[in-house]
Amino acid sequence: MNEKDAEKRIKKLRKEIARLRDEYHIKNNPNVTDDVYDSLTRELKELLKTYPEFADSNAGENRVAGKPLDKFVKVKHKVRMLSLNDVFSEEELFDWENRIKKLLGGGAKLDYFCEVKFDGLAVSLIYENGEFIKGATRGDGFVGEDITENLKTIKSIPLVLKSPFPKYVEVRGEALMSKRTLQKLNKINEKEGKTLFANTRNAAAGSLRQLDPKLASERDLDFYAYDIAEIRASQPKNFPGLLHPSDGTFPEKNSLAGLPVTHSNKHKLLKNLGFNVDKNDALCKNLNEVISFIKKFEKIRDDFPYGTDGVVISVDNLKLQEVLGVVGKAPRYMAAYKYPAEKATTIVKDVKINVGRTGVLTPLAIFEPTSVAGSTVSKATLHNMDQIERLDLKIGDTVVIEKAGDVIPKVVEVLKNMRSGKEKKVKMPDTCPVCDAKVEKKQSPEKKNSSRLLQPSAGTFRAENFSSPDSSVAYYCTNKKCPAKNERYLEHFVSVFEIYELGPKILRRFKDEGLITDAADIFALQKEDIATLERFGEKSAENIISEIENKKRIPLSKFLWALGILHVGEETARDLAIHFGTLENLISSTKSDVSEVDSIENIGPAVSKSLINFFQDKNNLNFIKKLEKNGVVVEKMEKKKAGKFTGLNFVLTGTLSTMSREIAKEKILALGGKVSSSVSKNTSYVVAGEESGSKLKNAEKLGVKVLTEQEFLNMLG
Ligand code: IVH
Repeated sequence: MNEKDAEKRIKKLRKEIARLRDEYHIKNNPNVTDDVYDSLTRELKELLKTYPEFADSNAGENRVAGKPLDKFVKVKHKVRMLSLNDVFSEEELFDWENRIKKLLGGGAKLDYFCEVKFDGLAVSLIYENGEFIKGATRGDGFVGEDITENLKTIKSIPLVLKSPFPKYVEVRGEALMSKRTLQKLNKINEKEGKTLFANTRNAAAGSLRQLDPKLASERDLDFYAYDIAEIRASQPKNFPGLLHPSDGTFPEKNSLAGLPVTHSNKHKLLKNLGFNVDKNDALCKNLNEVISFIKKFEKIRDDFPYGTDGVVISVDNLKLQEVLGVVGKAPRYMAAYKYPAEKATTIVKDVKINVGRTGVLTPLAIFEPTSVAGSTVSKATLHNMDQIERLDLKIGDTVVIEKAGDVIPKVVEVLKNMRSGKEKKVKMPDTCPVCDAKVEKKQSPEKKNSSRLLQPSAGTFRAENFSSPDSSVAYYCTNKKCPAKNERYLEHFVSVFEIYELGPKILRRFKDEGLITDAADIFALQKEDIATLERFGEKSAENIISEIENKKRIPLSKFLWALGILHVGEETARDLAIHFGTLENLISSTKSDVSEVDSIENIGPAVSKSLINFFQDKNNLNFIKKLEKNGVVVEKMEKKKAGKFTGLNFVLTGTLSTMSREIAKEKILALGGKVSSSVSKNTSYVVAGEESGSKLKNAEKLGVKVLTEQEFLNMLG
């Protein structure tokens, strides 16, 4: 990126960040998650590091977000309400420590106070002579809104402090809605057709920043205290501002003769005054202890009753806090460790086209590498052109990526506001990027049941097995001998056979050396063939051969999957194997009567057509023969031991209340029964859940017995 582009990007980022801040802090209605906001802010910070000439002390990133609302009386904070600087990794945490240690000089030894970072609404509470007199929001940090009446409805905000209390104290903390309360509230809102709150923060803020205290009281909010901004004991003259005794000693517990000298003292005092403070909070002797705290809390975070977004780490000693001071909007002596984001933003640098084993062309987005859920992501499949159109994704776009199920990164949104106008449209090529043959557009099969597509099995991800549920058009390379298809096919084949020794590089080498021309040749390899190759020794040759030998037996379901038949992925292969039991049965069925394939639950006409095409092709039958000749043994699908459903044919229809249809199907199969998708005179039972449609009518027409869910459950036993 050159300077000019950087300047433009910085401007765009500032504008979008400001817009998001506005949505978040003022309207309490963000359209994106905090992760996205954080990610953009981070990019801006990085850019400003490289191009400090564009830094601007008046820009949004240097100001505390939020603006007081007009509808409330404004309150000028006596002590500014600050924000926190974020750190996103252990490395950044150590950087922070290095910076502050340098500033403090003399090899200072620091204790750190660690506390949960609540995700609610920051508020400030003023108590005079032990009595709650005023409560305000943060606003822009200098001026907030007076929400005293609303705050009084929160039971965990004491109206009177426990004695002994100071003459004057300003307490800072977070007003919160528990996750359970939010769930309940959203359920009600849903029933009443009202908008749902996106998270506990918005719900808490929305409840407090409205004018009717009655409404606030219905919301069942909580308050946790985390700081004291100002405290005065009985002799105010001696204790101006945020104080601590100048000799740095802390007198006996519960005594107000002296005031806190450490952040942990403050927490203790807050607790003694009658506030909630989180019991996870802990004093740590060094950063390693801090990291243990972070890891420990991460484990229980999901079960924690309130929404949290990290851990706040403070230099415990207040004197040192004062020395370190505040820069911009945030204190130097505190850091907010943020847990790895599930979502992040990045820029699409390019969209490459991959050719898969079935010849399908798959677009792959190449990103500016970014960190999501703890690992670096630099590419993600876009599945197909439909997906690109749905997202309206262009090369150069800023996108939100998410790591679904912690494994596969995916693009979930394009941030159109971040466009510069230079973005380029993605186009499918007319010719194959690998062999230059013509590319053909084909309709993808209709899936009868798309849910399976959302669950690729772990470690077996391939773009073509994971097309989006409603994909409709796909582009294929028309060259049967396309080298990309061939190579991808070999890779697919060995991965299904679990021959891990044969990675893509070795396969390509074997091909180039003429050791293999197709996958069947793999099983005829001899140790000497490999050992004589340059860079392959006896030992590695032996390992490869012995692994191939061990993997020669394969269950029918996997074998069918390995064959790479168009539209037959792992799940479909399993359905076919369960239904037919042996390869011979399947092949002869495709020769005579296709309707048997059609009738299998989840399998549609596109699959049966593809099976016929595949098994009618002599080359494919010869390939299977060659595999068997070279020692591959296809194991029959273990027929389930005859169970009480043996010989019975079920059709499932409608929604079952106690289990999904997938589970019901598994249970029937386990007991020896079969499940078909359509009702015929061969059907023994139709299990009718709620909202059963045409299948139920057909059953009645054909006189097939219909079971209610309860009757079916009784049969299962
Ligand atoms: S300490 C200097 N402790 O996080 C202001 N803040 O991102 C920080 N927050 O405005 C005060 N839990 O609303 C502190 N245990 C905690 C916190 C916490 C949540 C919020 C607070 C602050 C924001 C900064």
